[in-house]
Amino acid sequence: MKTIQLNQGIGIPQLGLGVFQTRDGEETANAVRWALEAEYRHIDTARIYGNEAGVGQGIRASGVPREEIFLTTKLWNEDIRRGRAREAFAESLAALGTDYVDLYLIHWPVQGFEQAWNHMEELHKAGKIRAIGVSNFHSHHLDSLEKTARIQPAVNQIESHPYFNNQELIDECHRRGIAVQVWSPLGGTGGTLLKDPLLQELAQKYGRTPAQIVLRWDIQRNVIVLPKSTHRDRIFSNRDMFDFELSGEDMERIRGLQRNRRVGPDPDHFNF
Ligand code: A2P
Repeated sequence: MKTIQLNQGIGIPQLGLGVFQTRDGEETANAVRWALEAEYRHIDTARIYGNEAGVGQGIRASGVPREEIFLTTKLWNEDIRRGRAREAFAESLAALGTDYVDLYLIHWPVQGFEQAWNHMEELHKAGKIRAIGVSNFHSHHLDSLEKTARIQPAVNQIESHPYFNNQELIDECHRRGIAVQVWSPLGGTGGTLLKDPLLQELAQKYGRTPAQIVLRWDIQRNVIVLPKSTHRDRIFSNRDMFDFELSGEDMERIRGLQRNRRVGPDPDHFNF
């Protein structure tokens, strides 16, 4: 599995399993176990998803040693607003059944994120978190954070897929030395992206699925990609895109699908 080097000195596998909207318990545990069986070594959850316990269960059931797995969770908005980053982090560890995480993210840029960041820096220093980062940050949020941060974020996790490629923000993060993780890479649950005629055409051309075409596009854009699935066959097939290459021209054609159509909220306008 290809890895990307983070500015905080550790590597991150470029493919991870996303578990947003995956039900806690068996559904999550199975998805995680299948992903690890398919040689994923990176799982991305969040406190608000309510399935950290299922993630921990899946990891333990897989038999894969904890230290071989890159595990991410995120600090929820209400915990940031209430200044309880340290308590929320301890709750996440207990639910996951682990004593450290590889990556801990500020989930959304809500009031108080600068202070939360300082608490995360302390947890990082204490060895409880291997890397700290942010999610759903625009450039101006990164600017605000920079004023009080001692450590620069390792990653920014943002929405990006061919209908909303968010390429300017990705390029800006890369210029700052911040790695980018993309959520809803397949256009999100209930989306129509995978039926797009261009992706269907390229799937035919390369003998791959539309999902593999999109995920491969992400690998070649040097972003970290977090597709979600609860189906064993899809979890396995989404991984099979490290052994072919899209031409430069086809990369550009996929970029041309841009419609500026988000599936999630704009980080400047959300109400949760
Ligand atoms: P499911 O969990 O039922 O497999 P995103 O990662 O962009 O949020 O998209 C996830 C959505 O895409 C989920 O609804 C997931 O459904 C579906 N999905 C994941 N992998 C594939 C695939 N290979 N082909 C078609 N749909 C997929």
